[in-house]
Amino acid sequence: MIIAITSSKGGVGKSTLAVNLSGALALRGQTALMDADAVVGTARRWASRVGVVQVLREGERPAAGTRYLVLDTEGRPALKDMVDLSRQAGAVLIPSGVSGVELETTVALWQALGDQGGAMEAVRVVLTRVPPVGRAAEQVREELRQRGLQVAQTSIRQYIAYQRAHEAGKLVRDVTDERAAVAWADVLGLALEVC
Ligand SMILES: Nc1ncnc2c1ncn2[C@@H]1O[C@H](COP(=O)(O)OP(=O)(O)O)[C@@H](O)[C@H]1O
Ligand SMILES: [Mg+2]
Repeated sequence: MIIAITSSKGGVGKSTLAVNLSGALALRGQTALMDADAVVGTARRWASRVGVVQVLREGERPAAGTRYLVLDTEGRPALKDMVDLSRQAGAVLIPSGVSGVELETTVALWQALGDQGGAMEAVRVVLTRVPPVGRAAEQVREELRQRGLQVAQTSIRQYIAYQRAHEAGKLVRDVTDERAAVAWADVLGLALEVC
């Protein structure tokens, strides 16, 4: 099963999600991660340090027995490539922040994908960097659903623990941080939802 993580914008949390989600999926079955961002390669370098999933270069094939392939796309993939991805992947996750500007970008991407014939049943918005206090995620999820978007029930909340995990080359589960466990619970919840 291919799980692609993509967006029309950088800095939304794609690589953070790709690395941690692949770590959570690895608890369920052999998992590989492909980082299509050859230049920056955030996910590739981070996941290599974590060491629980096979890390692939673009075009490289996963080992026999691989159950999940997580794909972290490059910064701004062409719309046509995203449409192709939606047809091939079991799930296409579009991380999005909850600010008005980020939501408009996400809605525009959703509509463009649909207009271009994307397989929208595979596509899901994942709210990321959600303020842990307040009801932003619930409100935004409801609003997006009313506008016809599919939104994952699990949101990824904003915790410094993710940055610590990146710096340490670990999964968020494994950093020394009082919020590591709640952050990891979000990742596990999303992994369950996706597969
Ligand atoms: N859930 C989160 N909580 C806190 N910080 C986050 C979270 N997700 C991403 N970040 C931070 O946001 C920045 C961009 O994240 P990154 O995963 O590299 O985005 P992208 O791959 O979309 O460019 C990084 O500094 C990262 O640590
Ligand atoms: Mg990235």
